Order: sequence, then C-alpha cells, then structure tokens
Amino acid sequence: MPYRRLLHISDTHFCEFPNRNNHLKLWQNPPALSLTNQGKRISRSFFPSSFDSNAAQALAAFVCDVAPDLSLIVHSGDLATTGRPDDLGAAFHFLSASNCNGSTADGKPSIGDHVEKLFICPGNHDRYKNNFAKPWSANFNLQFRKIWLTQRLDITYRYVNKDDRKICILAIDFCLRANRDAGAPYQLNRYGRGKVYSDTILRLNDLMTELVDNDKCLNFIWVIHFPPADGAGSAEQLLNFDDVASLAKKYNVSFVLSGHLHNASISKTSYGTTIIRAGTACAADEAPNCWIHLLDLKIEDDLIASIRKTDYKWDWRNGEFSPVGSSIQILS
Ligand SMILES: [Fe+2]
Repeated sequence: MPYRRLLHISDTHFCEFPNRNNHLKLWQNPPALSLTNQGKRISRSFFPSSFDSNAAQALAAFVCDVAPDLSLIVHSGDLATTGRPDDLGAAFHFLSASNCNGSTADGKPSIGDHVEKLFICPGNHDRYKNNFAKPWSANFNLQFRKIWLTQRLDITYRYVNKDDRKICILAIDFCLRANRDAGAPYQLNRYGRGKVYSDTILRLNDLMTELVDNDKCLNFIWVIHFPPADGAGSAEQLLNFDDVASLAKKYNVSFVLSGHLHNASISKTSYGTTIIRAGTACAADEAPNCWIHLLDLKIEDDLIASIRKTDYKWDWRNGEFSPVGSSIQILS
C-alpha cells in the first residue's frame, strides 16, 4: 500500500466539568469568549480550563466517520485537564467507551469503537496530581494501562500496521517529575514546562538501536507532547530539548508529532527533523479554534517520502469540523 493515513489530534483537555474556563486565560484571550459565548461559558474558575462539549461532540462524529480508512489515531497529549481520576476518567470515556458511533447511550461523545487504532502520549496536564499542577501523577498509567502500553513509564511504541514492521511510532513522555525540575519559580513553571531526562534518553537510545538492529525497522515517527525546539514561551518550554532533537537526527526520525501550544504549525528542529504540531481539538479556552489533522503518508521504496496534511477546523455554527486547507511536506 503506497499510503498510510493517520489522524492527529491533541490537547482535548477532558475533565469532570465541561466548558470550564480559567479566569487568567479569559483575561488573556477575551475575543475567544465573545466569539463563542453561546450561553455555555458560565463555568469559570481559577483551575485549569477544560473542554468545549460541543467541539468534543463534533470531534467524535468526525473520528467515527473517517476511522475505517485510518491506520492510527494519534493523540499527542493533554488528553485530560488534570491527572485526577475524575478528569482522566472523562478522557477514558471519550476514547474507549464502546457502542460509540459518535456517542454512547447516555449521549456523551465517544470514539471507543476504534480504540484499537488509538496511540497516545501523556501531556503535562495528564500528569497533574491536582488542579495546581503538582507534577508526576501516576494515575495516567493506571487509567490508560490498556492503551499506554508501557512498563517503562515513559516510552511506548507500536507498528503503524501490525503485520508490517517498516513504520514504527514511539511515544515519549517528558512530563515533569518534581517541582524543582520546572525551574524557579516552580509554582508557575510547573504548569507548562516539560523536561528531557537523561535516563529517558538512554532508554530511548537503547530501544531505537534494538528496533533498527533486530526488527530492521526503516521509518520512525515520534510523538512528544512538547515540541522539541525553540519557539515555545518560557513558561511552556521543553527543557533540554536539544538532547532529544539530536537523537531524532541520529536515528533519522521521519517526523515528530506534538501538541501543547494549542495552535497548529509545521517547523523543524535545529537538526532538520520535521515537527508537526496539532492545534487543540476541543480545549475550552481556545474554542472555536479547534483542529483535527489528517496525515497521508506517501511511501516510496519502503520509506516515508512525503506527508499531505489536511487541516479541519471546528465550525461551531454547523457543529462540524470542516476542511480549511492542506499542504505537502517532502521528507526525502
Ligand atoms: Fe494542552
């Protein structure tokens, strides 16, 4: 098959409480509120923003519509607003509740009929122990143990197609493990920063060597919630990102899928690896700027030669994600 189709979504921010906005975010982004104030944005809080329930409904309908043609559905992190069990439970329901066709019997949106195609990576919010971003909650590993298939805690992988070991996708978790790792003032920086830890880099290097030498894998896609490059504001940086960017170069990683900053872009690491960053799919503080991305990988001589990325934006007036443009990235 000369093509593989992936769906890339990110930053869904599912939560026990839908449509919750953060006071600070509202102050920073008042136009978003005025554009989308449909009588639902009544829940405001000093806690992190959650998800827009209408965008989530449209997201589920879109995914269920295109799922039969997909090799994988990739979620690049911030599945939930926090790593509290109630918030992760809401994300788990969306991603795995059965009998979906877009929603469950109770009317809640879900894409669970396609959970076997799901590949996920935790984001900083998924590791919050509480609403104040205390780091390194392990609840994600418990809640998603059937999807986040790792005993190593921080790296997992699978082949894009089970019977074909030519394209491997890996998810690498660089969420903070301790307050001090965020840097001062950690009370603020722990909300948005990630850090590349040396032990994770060692494990990633070992695993990549194994996949190249033993499995003879030819193509690698990495999923990292935090874009491994300059460009994020100080409060949202991936600290030590150069360590993982140089490893991506060493193993000729085809491209990196990221999220985190809630707006879509295509960029490069300082070593030339392509980074495809998804916009948020349904975060309340960005609505109606909610995005889904279809990635069609063109395969030539067993290598990923190019990617056609088609962007879909949520049109809150008609309740659907609609195509707004596409672009082609040449990789080789
Ligand atoms: Fe996020």
